[in-house]
Amino acid sequence: MNSVTATQRPLRKAVLPVAGFGTRVLPATKAIPKEMLPVFDRPAIQYVVDEALAAGIEHIVFVTGRNKGAIEDYFDHAYELELTLAQKNKNALVDELKSFLRPAGSMSFVRQQAALGLGHAVWCARDIIGDEPFAVMLPDMLMMAKPSCLAQMVEAYNKVGGNVIAVEPTDTPEQYGVIAPVSRDGRLIKMKGMVEKPKREDAPSNLFISGRYILQPEIFELLASQSPGAGNEIQLTDSMVRLMETQSFHALEYEGRTYDCGDKIGYLRANAAYALASEEFGDKAAATLQAALATASRS
Ligand code: UTP
Repeated sequence: MNSVTATQRPLRKAVLPVAGFGTRVLPATKAIPKEMLPVFDRPAIQYVVDEALAAGIEHIVFVTGRNKGAIEDYFDHAYELELTLAQKNKNALVDELKSFLRPAGSMSFVRQQAALGLGHAVWCARDIIGDEPFAVMLPDMLMMAKPSCLAQMVEAYNKVGGNVIAVEPTDTPEQYGVIAPVSRDGRLIKMKGMVEKPKREDAPSNLFISGRYILQPEIFELLASQSPGAGNEIQLTDSMVRLMETQSFHALEYEGRTYDCGDKIGYLRANAAYALASEEFGDKAAATLQAALATASRS
């Protein structure tokens, strides 16, 4: 359990919304959940679950939809596969697969029957989260960081409490939600607002909201009454802006790098980055990528 001051409630649970359609990476996501697409040698969702666990999260709530069964199966036994591998004396592989299993009952799956937006997806987890702070982790955003991005956020949360979101500098604020800062203490920034996809000249900062949040449960009441916003979707950002009227919000410019796997080029970049970062395969990956660049023809 994370150490916290007496007034702060500890962070134990994380919500991973996985009910979107992944339209920007179609056709890859026609029959496979976006979160199950491999990034180098494992599904994207595995990195995010590992990040949560490294931050001390004890319970993970997936907000799922139709055609997302592969995610539940991935975090369960695969008896036939395990038996076949064991019969072939591939015990190290069996152990690796089993290491992904979490204690029984420590993962929940709730349905979002219609993809009405990220805010609605988070609201679907309200009964399982209850009256405690929780993390939201967007599984198509991979954070390469040591300590993990959420672990850095937990450290900040244990100091300042309230709501904490991860941010990172960007050259293209017009593509993202960005924060309006008030003051800064090292990497921790007191916030007064957030703007979705501002015009470059109007952007209140170059710090984009990168997909990790620690939120207080009072957000659920606001989400319940939240009207649709941008894209006619129920936006988490809109309720966070309302929560900011009564609660403190800090942004943490975390140490690390965000890889957005939600579009095709970002997904390609993530694959290269995670292959290059692999202890076992990094050198081979670098040589392979260089050779591919030297020989690839674009015609
Ligand atoms: P995105 O907007 O990046 O995902 O939402 P998407 O909707 O799948 O992508 P596109 O735009 O169609 O390509 C961020 C995260 O929130 C989840 C998505 O699954 C993704 O992990 N999400 C989004 C939901 O669970 N429900 C929703 O209604 C919307």
